Amino acid sequence: MPLPKAELHLHIEGTLEPELAFELAARNGVELPYADTDELRKAYEFEDLQSFLNLYYELMAVLRTERDFEDLANAYLARAAAQGVRHAEIFFDPQAHLARGVDMGTVVEGLWRALGSSESAHGVSTRLILCFLRDESAESAMRTLEAAKPYLDRITGVGLDSAEVGHPPVKFREVYEAAAALGLRRVAHAGEEGPPEYITEALDVLGVERVDHGLRCMEDEQLVARLVRDRVPLTLCPLSNVRLRTVDTLADHPLPAMLDAGLLCTVNSDDPAYFGGYAGDNFGAVHRTLGLSQDRLRELARNSFLASFLEDDEERRAR
Ligand code: HPA
Ligand code: ZN
Repeated sequence: MPLPKAELHLHIEGTLEPELAFELAARNGVELPYADTDELRKAYEFEDLQSFLNLYYELMAVLRTERDFEDLANAYLARAAAQGVRHAEIFFDPQAHLARGVDMGTVVEGLWRALGSSESAHGVSTRLILCFLRDESAESAMRTLEAAKPYLDRITGVGLDSAEVGHPPVKFREVYEAAAALGLRRVAHAGEEGPPEYITEALDVLGVERVDHGLRCMEDEQLVARLVRDRVPLTLCPLSNVRLRTVDTLADHPLPAMLDAGLLCTVNSDDPAYFGGYAGDNFGAVHRTLGLSQDRLRELARNSFLASFLEDDEERRAR
């Protein structure tokens, strides 16, 4: 029986497996520049975040209809459930779809067709987090938030992803203020490739409750002390860090040191179709390669529920 866990860092577009990509391409008459799934898999050799993002955005061309987004989410939920995921807080990137002429309603309604029945179909509760692309303008992010207004009953929070370096959190101060005023929860990717200062800025300027990745906090002792004191959750993604060369090898991953420092760490899969594993695979890898004990794994699983928006939401509903 896999350890029950919550997944808090998962891009739904990053769950597009090569087989489904080809199926959707055929269904929608989209030509992919790869002969078959083997050739596509050979392209999964990344130098850094940007080289991954190029393929990630390219393959999204196959996602066109509500049914495509429903199929994508159902495939993820089935795989996640098989690896012990009981709750998933799922990122989506609407700007990447709006730019291709796929509107917000198609994306959210499509995803919702799967998420709305996920508890009964897969035994997985879900939340949806709308991510802004940080390499797009702040005005574009604001327009995206505006386009999401009819769907806010389905969206729990906002996040910030895509190319990090050169796009500091402060760029999105106003849109995060607007999101907070709408009652949305706030998270952001920070300290994946970007410097520790971006983590501080995400906390101070954007008011995030959780930091996605946050790996580079380890370069700043005072920041670590603050994250420990304030119990700020970090959503780490070990296999992603290896594939995007944020760490040299999994054996070099700072997760054990981060846990020893008292940080509230969680283990997640990020873009599992591209990085070689779902949530349970990430747990298995840190167990085998980093020698984390069963107690440590249970701590990570407990942290994932503590750091989720689940309990607060339930409490709020009960009030
Ligand atoms: N980092 C930043 N943006 C992303 C990622 C990631 O790992 N995956 C999808 N968008
Ligand atoms: Zn991510």
